[in-house]
Amino acid sequence: MVASFEMVKALLDESRRVVVLTGAGVSAESGVPTFRGIDGLWKTHRAEDLARPDSFAQHPELVWEFYNWRREQVRKCEPNPAHIALAEMEKHIPNFLLITQNVDGLHTWAGSHKVMEMHGSLWQVKCTVCTHAREDFSELPDLPECPVCGHLLRPGVVWFGESLVPGVLRLAIEQVSQADVFVSVGTSNLVQPAASFHQLAKDHGAVTVEVNLEPTPNTGLMDFALHGKAGEILPELVTGLLK
Ligand code: OAD
Repeated sequence: MVASFEMVKALLDESRRVVVLTGAGVSAESGVPTFRGIDGLWKTHRAEDLARPDSFAQHPELVWEFYNWRREQVRKCEPNPAHIALAEMEKHIPNFLLITQNVDGLHTWAGSHKVMEMHGSLWQVKCTVCTHAREDFSELPDLPECPVCGHLLRPGVVWFGESLVPGVLRLAIEQVSQADVFVSVGTSNLVQPAASFHQLAKDHGAVTVEVNLEPTPNTGLMDFALHGKAGEILPELVTGLLK
């Protein structure tokens, strides 16, 4: 493990193109519940059962209650050392991209600029009928309405069964394919397409690294696997980067 750690550090030091993929685990130490951990339940509902267009169509009040609760949860949280280390890493790597599956906005709050929020953001709302969309950090009503057409607003996140925002997947694939190093942090690697990015990176010659609390289905395919808390491992990896 010590050897791997030093090797990953050296690798980052000499790399010009790095793509980092993050998941809920990177925000766990900020107090944001992960999706599949023991705290991944809301009331008696699994998050995955609510983050769906059909659930919203049938029970918009329930789905909005869930998202308003999540907004309140995240509002109380702050970026942790893992977010801060990734914001620092960006400064050292000439071509850097952070692709996050998280919708909490904590990477941006920590100071990351080159961030792709591939599943959208808790802080975006958009109309279910017209093109109105906006960033909104305020406390929202139970069923917020569009100020333009009066129809129901929805959270600006990508739900299960929905396509990613056009262009996002294309850009992600382009960047992952060009990476020298691909690092996956705090994701169970169960949700596509992100769970396949490591393979795409590897097929194009990148060295792949996993940082996660526990092994994932992708661990055996990674060149390096560092298991432990992202908030402890990432600051160590970034400290002393020479570039
Ligand atoms: P998961 O909840 O599936 O996985 C979180 C991973 O983080 C697990 O493998 C944990 O072991 C790990 N973990 C927990 N605490 C950690 C820590 N302190 N340091 C490092 N790792 C830690 O979350 P995601 O993989 O992000 O999609 O889930 C992917 C997608 O599925 C989400 O974006 C969401 C979800 O359902 C949509 O909503 C569309």
